[in-house]
Amino acid sequence: MTTENQMTESVEQPEEEKSFFFRGAVLGLAGGAVAAVLLISVVGTVISLGDDVFGSSSDTAMDEPVVVDPLVATGETLAASNGCVACHSTDGVDGVGPTWQGLSASVDAEYIRTAIVDPNAVIADGYTAGVMPDTYGDTLSEEDLDALVAYISSL
Ligand code: HEC
Repeated sequence: MTTENQMTESVEQPEEEKSFFFRGAVLGLAGGAVAAVLLISVVGTVISLGDDVFGSSSDTAMDEPVVVDPLVATGETLAASNGCVACHSTDGVDGVGPTWQGLSASVDAEYIRTAIVDPNAVIADGYTAGVMPDTYGDTLSEEDLDALVAYISSL
């Protein structure tokens, strides 16, 4: 009796242990798989976040500045309020006067300032003197001129 019991126990014991370890192994594998999936998605999120942060900041910097120079913004307002934009475009299309787009690539700020206060001092290629009003040197303040030059230089 005792011997039989011991034998039964000694047979059952390893069975239980085996299934215990088996379950442990399955759980461990499942846990590992979940952890791996989590890790991959976290890494993926970090990478895409990184793309967003670095990608968008440099894209934005190239397309449209996030912070607009206040002087440039004032210049844009002045160009509208002084009627400059009736003759000058900012999109590359020449009108009564040459477009301002890309002007700063070929001339410096001093040229732009002179062109505003003394338009007949230098005549842009293909245009004639006496069309652009030569009164801006009298009606615009130094600050206005600084702002207009900054704005035109930014285009
Ligand atoms: C009635 C039309 C007219 C108005 C208004 C006008 N311009 Fe002009 N502008 C011209 C013409 C035409 C030229 C080209 C002849 C010349 O260089 O003077 C010119 C030339 C220029 C140039 C030099 C461009 C180049 O490619 O060399 C600048 C800079 C300029 N204008 C700025 C201004 C600003 C700033 C205002 C407003 C404060 C203004 N203009 C108002 C007609 C105008």
